[in-house]
Amino acid sequence: MGKVGLGLAVGCAVASCAIAAVMVGRRVRSRRRWLRVVRVLDEFEETASTPVGRLRQVVDAMAVEMHAGLASEGGSKLKMLLTFVDNLPDGSENGTYYALHIGGTNFRLLRIQLGGQRSILGHDVERKPIPQHLMTSTSEELFDFIALSLKEFIERNGNKNNQVRGKDLGFTFSFPVKQTSLSSGTLIKWTKGFAIQDMVEKDVVECLQKALSRIGIDMNVAALVNDSVGTLALGHFYDKDTVAAVVIGTGTNACYLERADAVIKCQGLLTASGGMVINMEWGNFWSSHLPRTSYDIDLDAESQNPNDQGFEKMISGMYLGDIVRRVIHKMSLESDIFGPVSSKLSARFVLSTPSMAAMHEDDTPNLSEVAKILEDSLDIYNVPLKVRKLVVKICDVVTRRAARLAAAGIVGILKKIGRDGTAGITSGRVKSGKSGKMRRTVVAIEGGLYTSYTIFREYLNEAVGEILGEEIAPFVILKVMEDGSGIGSAMLAASNSSQGQSQSQSVDTVVQVL
Ligand code: BGC
Repeated sequence: MGKVGLGLAVGCAVASCAIAAVMVGRRVRSRRRWLRVVRVLDEFEETASTPVGRLRQVVDAMAVEMHAGLASEGGSKLKMLLTFVDNLPDGSENGTYYALHIGGTNFRLLRIQLGGQRSILGHDVERKPIPQHLMTSTSEELFDFIALSLKEFIERNGNKNNQVRGKDLGFTFSFPVKQTSLSSGTLIKWTKGFAIQDMVEKDVVECLQKALSRIGIDMNVAALVNDSVGTLALGHFYDKDTVAAVVIGTGTNACYLERADAVIKCQGLLTASGGMVINMEWGNFWSSHLPRTSYDIDLDAESQNPNDQGFEKMISGMYLGDIVRRVIHKMSLESDIFGPVSSKLSARFVLSTPSMAAMHEDDTPNLSEVAKILEDSLDIYNVPLKVRKLVVKICDVVTRRAARLAAAGIVGILKKIGRDGTAGITSGRVKSGKSGKMRRTVVAIEGGLYTSYTIFREYLNEAVGEILGEEIAPFVILKVMEDGSGIGSAMLAASNSSQGQSQSQSVDTVVQVL
């Protein structure tokens, strides 16, 4: 080989070495970037983890806080509000009733025809998105929108205003309300992104009645009802063993039947049945046992209601998508696996919970739904399959934690009323040991997260079983009550109707389930 040949060969070898070195360098850097992202995920998963031991601590904390909230006004972050519902539907109600439901992303209008003997002869439901600007406008504008929607609904159903004159109406208002009777109450605070300042501390029913008369509708609000209470009412209509209800939708809440003498803050509370439905407002529950991450802390700090609704911010549909967005944002700042940092990643609520659920439940082999949602919602393009899988995993961690915490909340209620197979709690302390005979216990559930998000539902059901154990779990039944919040409120209007269309045996039924 001549000098030239040798020179060429050496040159080639050097070049190949350099290329190899560049490639190895790239691979090492890309591996490092990947490891950084995996570390973010691991840390998140670890802090958000909900082993059954931790869930049991949440169960106990929930039961203790319930006790404290019943003992004194302001005794707990759980408000444990009186509802003045001591008379749940029992199936004997009949007649046609209307109901309105405001509280989430959609406003709902309902008309039901009850035929007695536990029968619903017909029901119409209409959903309308609430225009965004009305959520932060004035109470008059919001209630005029509600009244006008009712007028149009009545007309669409072939009725004239005079045909509904004097009819009883159920009003589901899904925000914390201090009730002064079954058909009156003042708004304590807004949640779920609503913020109409002039409404706070105003009587909600008065606002509605005034708007109805402005538009010429002569109807009577017979029941002002939280959505959880409506769900309990429908649950009880179908099944007398229903003792509690849970809503997991845009927001979250629970209510249950309590003995009147356990409501210590209202000494001498007298009800015909000896019991009352308590609206827990569990969205505001807090305990140091909750697995809180830095993403939750940031979400809370940037929210409209910091230090408020802590449990809701870990569980409900308004927030889950946004937690996922925050984790992806953090990852994209640590590494370029999502490409250049998209500005959308810093925008709150751009990733909705339904989109997050769609990514989580994407069953296409190459996760094309995940790719599409990353593009449409977050302006993130062309991510490889392994990054899409990572996104699915983030959704899983967020949803699993939410569902398992909700499950712990449910068992907390059962513990408070002695339906979890343990000895329950007395004087605010958790008692150890087992109770006597377990009774069939039904919990009614409503809200899109549970009804439409299969993985969420499965995680929740599984966790209830895990916490209760296989001996007790078969006694506890979770039953979906589709549209329960609205239908139940129409039923409460019926069972408390001034028109006297229902019979009175329903009073006893509360006592039976306590
Ligand atoms: C409200 C509750 C409501 C729940 C579910 C929460 O934000 O405070 O009153 O029941 O959302 O809609």
